[in-house]
Amino acid sequence: MGKLIINDVDVSGKRVLMRVDYNVPMEESNGRMVINDATRIKETLPTLLNLIQRGARIVLMAHLGRPDGKPDPSLSLRPVANALAEMLRRPVHFADDCIGERVENQVKSLKDGEVLLLENVRFYQEEEANDPAFSEKLASLGEIYVNDAFGAAHRAHASTAGVPASIHKRGGKCVGGLLMERELKFLGDELENPARPFVVILGGAKVSDKIKVIDRLLEKADAILIGGAMAYTFKLADGIRVGKSLVEPDKTDVATAAVGKAKEKGVTFLIPSDNVIADPIDTGRKNKKGRAIFDLQNARINTERDIPVDSEGVDIGPATIATFANEIAKAKTILWNGPMGIFEDSRFAQGTFSIAQAVVDTTQKNGAKSIIGGGDSVKAINVAGLGAKVTFMSTGGGASLEFLEGKDLPGVVALGNS
Ligand code: 3PG
Repeated sequence: MGKLIINDVDVSGKRVLMRVDYNVPMEESNGRMVINDATRIKETLPTLLNLIQRGARIVLMAHLGRPDGKPDPSLSLRPVANALAEMLRRPVHFADDCIGERVENQVKSLKDGEVLLLENVRFYQEEEANDPAFSEKLASLGEIYVNDAFGAAHRAHASTAGVPASIHKRGGKCVGGLLMERELKFLGDELENPARPFVVILGGAKVSDKIKVIDRLLEKADAILIGGAMAYTFKLADGIRVGKSLVEPDKTDVATAAVGKAKEKGVTFLIPSDNVIADPIDTGRKNKKGRAIFDLQNARINTERDIPVDSEGVDIGPATIATFANEIAKAKTILWNGPMGIFEDSRFAQGTFSIAQAVVDTTQKNGAKSIIGGGDSVKAINVAGLGAKVTFMSTGGGASLEFLEGKDLPGVVALGNS
């Protein structure tokens, strides 16, 4: 069943309370908080411009970081209001709270097509607790509820679950924005009945983070290619020695079961045949969390079956890149989630960037649909400068993963059915 979206409702002259995911990376520079990556803000512009054009009075709700239910000036959304105003080329009002009389008055004085951004909803512990009274207060600010915050839709918080429930109870419509619609289309519908061959590339640190996704995609995919540190757990399960590589020894049974299921279903299931390895050397320094900082030295390619006892796998090797690229080139649908190695270090970025290039080539030459499932793989594809050349990049991190696992997301469930 589909979900109602903004085009299904009349918004003219109405107060539209819209949840957005403006949880963007920020950094302090000369005493000011500066946005490092504004993708999540930019991606809400189509919805905002649609609503502005149709004369809605827009009240934006968002969270930033994890302030633990207390105001924290470094997590204020004010810099986001400024960035959004620049992108929209129109003023964006800012409320220095998200509930209360002053905010109510600011909402009342909005004119058709005007935009007001509320302060971080997580400055109240009631937000994450999905507190009914807090939800009611927020809900009183709008007649229609829009959710364009796919990235936060896996949270059952006030702004994603309690508020739409309140608005729905008093007969108001709860609908998705255009970004939400795109996310559900590409991560949902397109993967439900994918054009074949359907090739899935999975990376990242842990098998335990991705096992539910692997299990579900084994029902759909023609090939699954495994990279990143989680590949070492698959190697270990295969009796291969992995040296000092990041590994989950207690998850080898899960890895073996996945390989068994792939065989049973006739799914091509590939793990790396070679790796870039390096020797972790303790620097004697500690990070903020008090953990030892290691320097990765003596980077080299390992074509042996085993990884030497003092070395760590940090990327896929050239033979694996060629095998994976060959498999990707056959695809008509590609889903990629998780980098192939420590791409933040240019010595270990070759695998991730080559796979990104293979995905882009197949998209452009084969007309394949390429769907990048959020988080670090989006970051990697952007660092490689290839972001504009894939079909779709999700703005979700945890939300994309939970959605790909087949879970119902509370922020989506709360929207009206079409
Ligand atoms: C994200 O960045 O993945 C979303 O904004 C959700 O943030 P959270 O993990 O702090 O709930």
